[in-house]
Amino acid sequence: MTERLRLSGLTKSFGGLTVASQIDLSLNSGDRAALIGPNGAGKTTLVNLISGALAASSGDIHLDGVRMNALDQASRSRLGIVRTFQVSRLCRDLSVLENVSLPLIQRHGAAFRLWPSARRDRAIETEAIALLEPLGLADRAGRRVGELAYGEQRLVEIAIALAPKPRVLLLDEPAAGVPEGESGVILDLLSRLPADLPILLIEHDMELVFRFARRVIVLVAGAILFEGTPAEVADNQQIREIYFGRAGH
Ligand SMILES: Nc1ncnc2c1ncn2[C@@H]1O[C@H](COP(=O)(O)OP(=O)(O)OP(=O)(O)O)[C@@H](O)[C@H]1O
Ligand SMILES: [Mg+2]
Repeated sequence: MTERLRLSGLTKSFGGLTVASQIDLSLNSGDRAALIGPNGAGKTTLVNLISGALAASSGDIHLDGVRMNALDQASRSRLGIVRTFQVSRLCRDLSVLENVSLPLIQRHGAAFRLWPSARRDRAIETEAIALLEPLGLADRAGRRVGELAYGEQRLVEIAIALAPKPRVLLLDEPAAGVPEGESGVILDLLSRLPADLPILLIEHDMELVFRFARRVIVLVAGAILFEGTPAEVADNQQIREIYFGRAGH
């Protein structure tokens, strides 16, 4: 397994509050990792640091051996660091196809805008369908996003995240707000993502975490408390008290 993303000593403070503390973490090709921890532990902050939405106070971020620290969000995304958001950012009045087309057009860059528009539209539609098909979403392509069940909307967000051809995918609570009966569709979609794509999944639903992840990272108060297999995490008394105790498991 080759290393794609490496965080070393990653630290972020807001004034006196340290929200990421000396984080060392690697994601390798094919990784299926879950990041768990109580509310306010710093999970979204970590995604913001990796994606470039926030600048680190110290430490390093490498993607494919290249240091990312000085690059902005757009550059990191172009190089393959892609994240989804805890709160949906879809255009609800546009169709699924249109939502997926936007990042595809963006990826093609300026020269693409000079193509004849009919040819351009056809090319984008073909690409969009190729993206939606393996995820089981092709039959939703023409539907307005706002008409879809919320669970399905969240699937569209993951499809959009694949458009820039990520080298690493950071999913911030893709099942947040999804009714319990619909969380199965999220798990089903996660299992269809490209096998070599490293994924870091932030999730509170332990059933989803345990079924998805082969590695679980526990973040508490901005620091990694524990990293291990799902079974090791479930067996750890301290984590049970801090995390599962709080969640009422
Ligand atoms: N821009 C900011 N300025 C100051 N403090 C911030 C900022 N962003 C986040 N924080 C603080 O960082 C800490 C971690 O927040 P974060 O949103 O990363 O937690 P989280 O683990 O994602 O929680 P949740 O499970 O609720 O999504 C919190 O104490 C939060 O108040
Ligand atoms: Mg969060």
